[in-house]
Amino acid sequence: MSSVLQDRIAFVTGASRGIGAAVARRLHAAGAKVALASRSGDDLGLEGALGVACDVTDRGAVASAVDATVSQFGGLDIAVCNAGVGAYGDFVSLDWDKVEAMVDVNLMGTLHTARAAIPHLVARGGGDLLAVASVAGLRAFPGESVYNASKFGQVGFIRSLDHELRDHGVRCTNICPGGVATEFAFGDGREPGMPELDGMMSAEDVADVVMFALERPRSVRLLTASFRPAGEGSWG
Ligand SMILES: NC(=O)c1ccc[n+]([C@@H]2O[C@H](COP(=O)([O-])OP(=O)(O)OC[C@H]3O[C@@H](n4cnc5c(N)ncnc54)[C@H](OP(=O)(O)O)[C@@H]3O)[C@@H](O)[C@H]2O)c1
Repeated sequence: MSSVLQDRIAFVTGASRGIGAAVARRLHAAGAKVALASRSGDDLGLEGALGVACDVTDRGAVASAVDATVSQFGGLDIAVCNAGVGAYGDFVSLDWDKVEAMVDVNLMGTLHTARAAIPHLVARGGGDLLAVASVAGLRAFPGESVYNASKFGQVGFIRSLDHELRDHGVRCTNICPGGVATEFAFGDGREPGMPELDGMMSAEDVADVVMFALERPRSVRLLTASFRPAGEGSWG
């Protein structure tokens, strides 16, 4: 059976590993033409895909990466703002470089990607703009003040854009997972096999939800998808 995503053109940030890589692989398997953006520019060896080196904190670099995607594939139908970083601890003790990185990558990176992508989505008569935000974009957690701020910002931005872009046929979706076993989650002194990581979702579990949103008929918009590992609390 042919996929509704066959030949759709997708730009995914943070696609070199973790959730972004899982999303890029699923889109590619569904027949989409995929541009994978990250600082390394890794294309994961996906045949026909475009790897683009781009730091999402650099607005010009993001614009160039989106332009390269449009030149290569002839347009843009889907943009996934996924690149993200996290650092945890009391606000006053957080290394300031990490504070700035969370705002610059998670929030500004999403704004840069959306700004570059939206004119192309609108020009196609519609499309999809998704942010891989977090349950931390819906609920405050101790020790996550700046991560929370960046993710609440991302969620609010995408929610507001949905009002603005609905009449253009662009669906705006926040994907808000709880814990996912990626390098990101292994940060801050954690290692594979530690009990804190037991029962976390996989990057593929998140990609499933992204694909669910993208595969809805155009008459349906999924605004926010909040989902958690079975063992995680129910807040948010
Ligand atoms: N893991 C979780 O528990 C979890 C839960 C909820 C939400 N999230 C969100 O999911 C998203 C993806 O996280 P993940 O767990 O997949 O993390 P990950 O495994 O650490 O992957 C992060 C990706 O972002 C890229 N990246 C980092 N900084 C970048 C920058 N400045 N410019 C461009 N690309 C950059 C990395 O590639 P390069 O290093 O090559 O640039 C990598 O591809 C993030 O927004 C995160 O907040 C994660």
